[in-house]
Amino acid sequence: MKFELPKLEYEYDSLEPFIDEATMKLHHDKHHQTYTDKFNEALEKHPELKFKDAEEFLINLNDVPEDIRIVVRNHGGGYVNHSFFWEILKKNVEISGKIKIAIDKKFGSFDNFKKEFSTNALGVFGSGWAWLVLNEKKELEIIKTQNQDSPLTIGKIPLLVIDVWEHAYYLKYQNRRAEYVENFFNVINWGHIEKNFQMKGGKNENKI
Ligand SMILES: [Fe+2]
Repeated sequence: MKFELPKLEYEYDSLEPFIDEATMKLHHDKHHQTYTDKFNEALEKHPELKFKDAEEFLINLNDVPEDIRIVVRNHGGGYVNHSFFWEILKKNVEISGKIKIAIDKKFGSFDNFKKEFSTNALGVFGSGWAWLVLNEKKELEIIKTQNQDSPLTIGKIPLLVIDVWEHAYYLKYQNRRAEYVENFFNVINWGHIEKNFQMKGGKNENKI
């Protein structure tokens, strides 16, 4: 069994003008395809692993055979992270529901959350990702990861992510990562995040 590049559930230009069509095409068709191909190529060396889910490799990275562990970390990570990223994108969705309550409780306000998330996205040195995750206590937390490292490897459950590799924004924004991050808030699929938050057992009550 080979992993396949997931199809986008929307058109390449659906996120215009915040994320442009050319970037989406390049990012999905070329970059994500390359991660997919290299992930599959590594797994060909270990046919005994062929029935595993892609996420399982990252959750238990230390169980991956040593000769392919780094490739799985990088390209398996790239495969899973991007598959997740496409799902959380949709234009002009208002935040509502339990995730809104949880964010307000955890960060004090949506503006504070936005500030902290943006600071993390801007604080990734080089290439990586900023995430809103559920931590081990099923509470909200913002983290960043380098390269294609996944929160799954450190026991966290992804809810929201921004790709801050230059390939995610350079065509439109060049070196202006801050502008890309600011505009990213117009293309967050809060409905999907709410669904994930509830499915994964996120808490929206204050813990004392
Ligand atoms: Fe990317």
